[in-house]
Amino acid sequence: MCGNMKKELTQEIQDFVAGLRNSIKTRSFIRLTLSDYHGQEQDLIKSTVRLVSIKGHGMLTFVNSYSTKDITVNYEVPRGLGMIGHTIQNNFSNAHLYTSTIDTHLTRTGDGPWSLLASKASATGEPEISAAHDRQKKRVIDQKQPFLHALGITDAEHKILPSMNDKWRQINRFMELFNDAAQDAGITEEGSLSIADFGSGKGYLTFAIHNAISSRSAPIEVTGIEIRDDLVKFCNDVSAELGCKGLAFRKGDITSYSPDRLDILIALHACDTATDHAISLGIKAGAKVIMCAPCCHKEIRPMIKPPEVIKSLLKHGIHLGQEAEMLTDTLRALLMEAAGYQAKVFEFISLEHTDKNKMILGIKRRHEPGRQEKCLAQIRALKDFYGITRIKLEELLADVLPKP
Ligand SMILES: C[S@@+](CC[C@H](N)C(=O)[O-])C[C@H]1O[C@@H](n2cnc3c(N)ncnc32)[C@H](O)[C@@H]1O
Repeated sequence: MCGNMKKELTQEIQDFVAGLRNSIKTRSFIRLTLSDYHGQEQDLIKSTVRLVSIKGHGMLTFVNSYSTKDITVNYEVPRGLGMIGHTIQNNFSNAHLYTSTIDTHLTRTGDGPWSLLASKASATGEPEISAAHDRQKKRVIDQKQPFLHALGITDAEHKILPSMNDKWRQINRFMELFNDAAQDAGITEEGSLSIADFGSGKGYLTFAIHNAISSRSAPIEVTGIEIRDDLVKFCNDVSAELGCKGLAFRKGDITSYSPDRLDILIALHACDTATDHAISLGIKAGAKVIMCAPCCHKEIRPMIKPPEVIKSLLKHGIHLGQEAEMLTDTLRALLMEAAGYQAKVFEFISLEHTDKNKMILGIKRRHEPGRQEKCLAQIRALKDFYGITRIKLEELLADVLPKP
């Protein structure tokens, strides 16, 4: 249906797409209809585009109506937005955007010029994005929780503040993963639990975790460790105001903090090698779950000495940066595996919401004979290939792991 994507978009189509993009951003989008099809597909009559939520991600869903059937195709919002202009220009003569504030009609006759007309909003019902979000009421966190208002995520009516939408999605996605990881690690509802959030910042995740486990009958200890006094004070004040039993924030440095007990460690967006300190601390404390979302990756990049065959690949700074990031996180995962964890590296939230979207998740596993040697050999091979000498996490784990 996309047809030739090369031809430049007319100004009217560009303006129409800008209106569509804005309606999605401002949550006023209801639907988009494309009609008067003249493309290559047989029997296609029209396409109706809505915004839906699939597994927590906003998607543009195209229902393509043929004379005898409907076919639905979903696209991530940025991709859908990226192709819609050319889809219209090459295949349809009519596009109608319905929003809760205005209708916009893009039309042309035959090969004539496009015209763009705005009129009063005609569609009834809620903006589609709200409906999509309502369908996500299954979100892990109840929007009415007082901590959300205290942290500035919701307003007094428990509505998510528009500026906090991405944060809200991020926290919910994180909590889904947190719950799955705890279950996977065999953490039951009954036992006591000690959790630390390193580099807790404004405490979004720390409060969310505390909220999720506060109804347990066994003692819980959720601690946010943060280097900044003002944030520690802010979070402790909120915790005291809301009477959050078992939740505390301490001023501390990831690089030197040592907890008495630790079942779950989280460290989201701790800078550069602070992530390595967090992972090492979790491993040494015997944490059952380690969840890290690395921030910047500065350590390995200057160490890389690319072998001849990939020199041309890595001569481009952007590629070198990407390679260094991939290598850093792979080595981190392998070191975690060598230390007895099952480690996974994955994207935990769509890039649309944050550019720091990678997670390294480690779940402590039973000892597997030969596993450590295998991981250490893989680490050695990778380091040799890239000419890397010693990395931070390896150094930090030197007293608990044999030298790779
Ligand atoms: C990017 S913020 C992330 C906050 C929070 N984890 C989140 O994802 O919403 C990183 C936080 O780590 C704190 N931080 C940086 N270095 C630290 C260190 N060495 N020890 C403890 N906290 C640190 C910063 O002050 C900042 O609040």
